[in-house]
Amino acid sequence: MSFLKEHPEWIISSFVKNSNFKFKKKKILNILPPALIDDAVKSISSWENYKTTPLLKLNKLRKKLSLKEIYYKDESKRFHLKSFKALGGAYAVKKISGKNKITVSTATAGNHGKSVAWGAKRLGMKCVIFISEHVSECRAKSIRKLGAKIIRVKGNYNNSLKECIRQSKKNDWKIVQDVSWKNYEYIPKLIMAGYCIMIKEIFIQNKKKSFSHVFLQAGVGGMAAAVIAGFARYFKKIPKIIIVEPDKAESVLKSIRNNKSVKFKISKESIMGGMSCGEVSQVPWKILKSSVNFCVSISDYMVKSVIFSMAKKDFSDVKIEGGECATPGIIALKSICFNKDIKKKIGINKNSKILLFGCEGATDTKMYNKIMKKK
Ligand SMILES: Cc1ncc(COP(=O)(O)O)c(C=O)c1O
Repeated sequence: MSFLKEHPEWIISSFVKNSNFKFKKKKILNILPPALIDDAVKSISSWENYKTTPLLKLNKLRKKLSLKEIYYKDESKRFHLKSFKALGGAYAVKKISGKNKITVSTATAGNHGKSVAWGAKRLGMKCVIFISEHVSECRAKSIRKLGAKIIRVKGNYNNSLKECIRQSKKNDWKIVQDVSWKNYEYIPKLIMAGYCIMIKEIFIQNKKKSFSHVFLQAGVGGMAAAVIAGFARYFKKIPKIIIVEPDKAESVLKSIRNNKSVKFKISKESIMGGMSCGEVSQVPWKILKSSVNFCVSISDYMVKSVIFSMAKKDFSDVKIEGGECATPGIIALKSICFNKDIKKKIGINKNSKILLFGCEGATDTKMYNKIMKKK
């Protein structure tokens, strides 16, 4: 019996090898310069309550999949915001406001808006957050708690972004967006520079030793491109880079396949809400297009079960609090290991040292508690 037949639930929906792969450190660091990364790292590490997030070992999963090591960067412990997004928006707000009291705005699937709202609150500034009808009320509530005004917009994320741009222009609010477009690159780059501190931490935690493969979740691609820039900045050896997306929103995969940034029409929202994006952002695309080795997409099918397993110590000796966007690395890795053909193509074997990102903790507490109760 084949692995796939034994494990029908662990499935890769789409797989693409990047035929334009050419990792060029210099080019990447021209797009996200070391000075920008270093400034962000210096600033964030001086914030009150700043702490390196854990780099856990998923030793039970490693054993099951017969791999050398699986590391999991646990961003559920990132400040009290429980996601890596805390590093980007809040840093950009601080950087652009200087000593001025401005009103900042953004559109968000949840975590980025929380970061911007937190950044504004800490500086005593006003903040307006635009969310689509798909963002849960629980997420909206946690943003309101940080003092921001919430404006709910009918339709999807793109509608909320359009409305954010329209109202911000009219009211002279400063948009702090994690998506870049023509003549709007500086702030998204600041946000990406903020994310890079994760790689500086990993560099120290893993004693400067690199990995064979790194799995990176992508929504608009900001986090993935920032991690790649972080590797270019700190590490000598660059691992193979695998992008993971929901199959309902595989815009990076489609763009890599077509060798140009193309839109993906989202007909149904993924449960992995932070990654439900139909278009890759411009600055990240400049980095991703030649530095990504492979793209895979996964369905929503195993998300809840993996959240539950993380909490029940099925993968590690310690309990892990993971939200929806924390699961794709585990789902993709396990599914690849049960698919001999893809596993071989990606070059995963008993010597592989894998790095995964647990992007968020229970950021939607209502959904998290529901999952825990049901299982
Ligand atoms: C928890 C989490 N993980 C991953 C992502 C994807 O990051 P990006 O949109 O920068 O690709 C998001 C986006 O909001 C997120 O909230």
